[in-house]
Amino acid sequence: MAQLIDGKAISARIKDELKEEVAQLKAQGITVTLAVILVGQDPASCVYVRNKARACEYIGIRSISCELPEQTTQEELLKKIEELNADKDVDGILVQLPLPDHINEDAVIAAISPDKDVDGFHPQSVGALCIGKPGFVSCTPAGIIQLLKRSDVTIEGKECVVVGRSNIVGKPMSLLLLRENGTVTICHSRTKNLKEVCRRADILVCAIGKPKFFTRDYVKDGAVVIDVGIHRNADNKLCGDVDFDDVAPVASKITPVPGGVGPMTIAMLMKNCVESARRKASAVLR
Ligand code: GUN
Repeated sequence: MAQLIDGKAISARIKDELKEEVAQLKAQGITVTLAVILVGQDPASCVYVRNKARACEYIGIRSISCELPEQTTQEELLKKIEELNADKDVDGILVQLPLPDHINEDAVIAAISPDKDVDGFHPQSVGALCIGKPGFVSCTPAGIIQLLKRSDVTIEGKECVVVGRSNIVGKPMSLLLLRENGTVTICHSRTKNLKEVCRRADILVCAIGKPKFFTRDYVKDGAVVIDVGIHRNADNKLCGDVDFDDVAPVASKITPVPGGVGPMTIAMLMKNCVESARRKASAVLR
């Protein structure tokens, strides 16, 4: 039976580590500050934004919340981002996605200064990750690397299979596993023999957005299984992309849903904010 990878406990430890770092920075006169922009009232986005503000409060990060109406124009949003880019007190800028249809997400992401891009979505951040240069890394895949490392899973030399090729999870996940010297395969909706490819994996990352898609037929005995999906089923219960009850008996380690990958995303966002403040402080000293 697989050992559980407890994202709730690991994220709590990271947040406690960050709380100490933030207190040390405060003693040096540095207040870490995150600005979160929310356009409109999408209920899921409102919950995410509230959770981010709560995590900031726990760690001691100052959070500035910019709640803009649904009918905000792209021009107005870009102007707000420019203001925050220029504000020396702001270390991180996050624009909650999705944006309303009349706003071009790519243009908005590109407008955020890469120095404050704590989501790691800016093309410069993605390019830096690709060529092994410093930059912010997308929070969910960065959180998965932390889950693996803090659960004593060796990545180097392992067969890593990532299922899903989104810009936010699948692609950066593959690059991070490669950076850790894993042998990486990326699968997607056009992959042939998906089961066979998944069964090669020592580390299987499931990020396709289909509830309980991955059964034990996709999993090699003793594999580590990471479930990025989150869905609500007909009885209002949360589940992931992995059929947990079916897979857990054959895996060596597995993330549950909820309480696996999910809590790590916010913890890594907080980590990126602290990192941004540190980089700014060391640039000022130089
Ligand atoms: N919407 C859903 N997840 C995310 C995220 O990680 N960052 C942002 N900015 N928006 C999101």
